Amino acid sequence: MSEAARGHGSVRLLEHIIEVTSADLDVREVSQRVAALVTAATDSDVCFVHLVDDELQRVVLAGATPPFDEHVGRVQLALGEGIAGWVAKHAKPAVVPDKWKDNRYRYIPELRGQDFTSMVSVPMLARGRVVGVLNVHSRAARDYGDDDLVLLTQVANLMAGAIENARLYRRLAEREEVLERFASRTVEAQELERRRLAGEIHDGISQRLVSLWYHLLAADDAVGPAEDASTVRRELGMAKELATEALAEARGAITGLRPFVLDDLGLGPGLESLGRTLTGLEVDVDVEPVVLPPHAEVALYRIAQEALQNVVKHAEATTVRVRLTSADDGVRLVVSDDGVGFDEDSIAGAERRHSYGLVGIRERAELIGASLRLASRPGTGTTVEVVVPHPPADPGHGHPGKV
Ligand SMILES: Nc1ncnc2c1ncn2[C@@H]1O[C@H](COP(=O)(O)OP(=O)(O)OP(=O)(O)O)[C@@H](O)[C@H]1O
Ligand SMILES: [Mg+2]
Repeated sequence: MSEAARGHGSVRLLEHIIEVTSADLDVREVSQRVAALVTAATDSDVCFVHLVDDELQRVVLAGATPPFDEHVGRVQLALGEGIAGWVAKHAKPAVVPDKWKDNRYRYIPELRGQDFTSMVSVPMLARGRVVGVLNVHSRAARDYGDDDLVLLTQVANLMAGAIENARLYRRLAEREEVLERFASRTVEAQELERRRLAGEIHDGISQRLVSLWYHLLAADDAVGPAEDASTVRRELGMAKELATEALAEARGAITGLRPFVLDDLGLGPGLESLGRTLTGLEVDVDVEPVVLPPHAEVALYRIAQEALQNVVKHAEATTVRVRLTSADDGVRLVVSDDGVGFDEDSIAGAERRHSYGLVGIRERAELIGASLRLASRPGTGTTVEVVVPHPPADPGHGHPGKV
């Protein structure tokens, strides 16, 4: 073959390899196709693609020209073992004119070493790391030249880049999944704890306060109308008042701890009912039906609750608007008021230390992977906007694991 023809051929090969490695295929499929292309381009008889398994610290056959493809996954070598293991360990190519004379060679019956004589083995390098090894073998003895080595190195590195990308993508997707599971478990755990507390306050403290109140009432009756009983009666009256207040507080705490409305009605009506608890300003709630996982519903409900409390406590607003919509980018919750607004940067240190509301809003949004926008300026009112992105259409069959 002339030099020009060879050069032309290698460009075409690289084009093919780029096509194969950027297609949406799994690692095995890519390895198979690359093996076939490389065998033809280097005029060899067989090609093996081994990938490094970092956990096992071994190279594992990931692709081969037929009939050896049936051994994919089963043929493995320790790093340093055999020629492929040596190349993986040293990150250097090996050109072997006669493998029987090379003491690195290790006979593997399944790969029928007896049928082949010469070989070249090159490391697949991505960002300085060996991700695999590419081997070509020929039946007849031959001298693989520099051209072959250069071409194989280019192919190996192209593949390495694609495999490394797939690996990084998979790792990222796994981490995202772990984070998502963590978020939903955290919110669930929080809610469970709140339910437990609500139950405890209800069954324990509240019940005792109720019976205390009845005892006080009975004592009050028993003292009767006698003159000297006036002090006793005054004390009993104050005690009853305290018991009533404590009971009201306990009930308030229970309502705050557990969003019953979410269980009973769902997020939209839950927000409407939140709106109805506000007094002293016009509350305009407009909700669309949205689909969200339960932990995200709870998080949005709590965010709206805190944002509305802030409006009542700080905004001096005449109107507050609550919007829940399903948009292209996700489910959007907006709470906006026309009050005094504030400058987040200039909230004083002490105030910031004792303020948990905005921090809590931010944390809840982060936990459910939502974006948060807080817009406020003194004199212009405040807007809190949270967008929960739609989940990917089909998380099980997307990119992870593909090259
Ligand atoms: N809608 C609003 N209008 C005007 N100021 C606000 C509004 N929301 C928050 N702020 C300002 O931001 C500060 C921080 O709010 P944040 O909710 O973190 O704390 P807080 O309401 O003071 O206390 P906590 O929520 O812990 O009971 C508030 O003290 C207030 O100065
Ligand atoms: Mg607050």
